[in-house]
Amino acid sequence: MRFNIALLKGDGIGPEIVDSALQVLDRVAALYGHEFIYNSLSAGGCAIDRTGVPLPEETVAGCLASDSVLLGAVGGPKWDNLPGQLRPEAGLLGIRKALGLYANIRPVKLFPALKERSPLRNSPDFDIVIVRELTGGIYFGDRGRICGEKGVEAYDTERYSVTEIERIGRVAFETARGRSKRVISVDKANVLESSRLWREVMHELAAEYKDIAYGDMLVDNAAMQLIKNPAQFDVMVTSNMFGDILSDEASQLTGSIGMLPSSSVGNGKRGLYEPIHGSAPDIAGTGTANPVATILSAAMMLRHSLDLAKESDVIENAVSAALDAGYLTRDIGGTLGTREMTDRIISYLV
Ligand code: IPM
Ligand code: MG
Repeated sequence: MRFNIALLKGDGIGPEIVDSALQVLDRVAALYGHEFIYNSLSAGGCAIDRTGVPLPEETVAGCLASDSVLLGAVGGPKWDNLPGQLRPEAGLLGIRKALGLYANIRPVKLFPALKERSPLRNSPDFDIVIVRELTGGIYFGDRGRICGEKGVEAYDTERYSVTEIERIGRVAFETARGRSKRVISVDKANVLESSRLWREVMHELAAEYKDIAYGDMLVDNAAMQLIKNPAQFDVMVTSNMFGDILSDEASQLTGSIGMLPSSSVGNGKRGLYEPIHGSAPDIAGTGTANPVATILSAAMMLRHSLDLAKESDVIENAVSAALDAGYLTRDIGGTLGTREMTDRIISYLV
């Protein structure tokens, strides 16, 4: 089969890790008789340098014309002093919004080979999926600066509609149906009105999904519980900002933030797939970045957007086999560079 994949390699280590994922995809294409046609587009800092804006129209059009999008990472110190709407990150938020990708799925999985790297190496095994709302909340609310009584003031607004909460809630409950049938919704309903509405809507859904065990948790407690007893979680559903923070925290339980992939999906098949980590400007160009999160993101893309479940399994198994054989990058206690790690993973593709 032929598929059109838009590439947003981005900044920092972005191009290096996306290139690793492409090598893996090309090998899978050769093994299983597919053709992946790539269209490289710019978003983030590289787009600012080229066109003056973080998300050129041609990038949005190119993504809309593709079956799916693979992204590396955006941002870096070079663009840190630009106004908010012209920063690289605005390009990422813009493409998520433009493609209607309201659900961000972040599986937090501990590979057996890395258990010793986890700060919770003596705890029971866990397997969590964080379902993060991605196109609403404080990331997209009204913000600005005003001259207040005590001088300059800045504000950001958290706003959620019933529709937005309900559709992300459904993703969480449906995801739980294919797993251990437990959903915990994370909010700050003891303080925030947006969280109180969030909780009300989640309760209505919980009444509908009677086969799923449901619970609420306040976000500060959830941050603690993740460290104390991660095995209590199956699916965690939460708002845009809480999901951003909790997924970075949870990543450490797997040994490294370099391990976690993500998919961002909406109502259709097209999705955007990216590692949860950033552009790591400090190690960009050194050839030491861990490509696993991006390779696993490509595997998620095959499963969810291209209906290639078998091929997706093949990639995930190859990653697991390489780790089991002791092939590790520096962030997970090894010595391999990006290229060597990629080659090892490719050698286990069957
Ligand atoms: C992520 C990142 C982004 C986010 C940044 C780069 C805008 O941290 O995908 O987790 O906050 O969503
Ligand atoms: Mg983040």
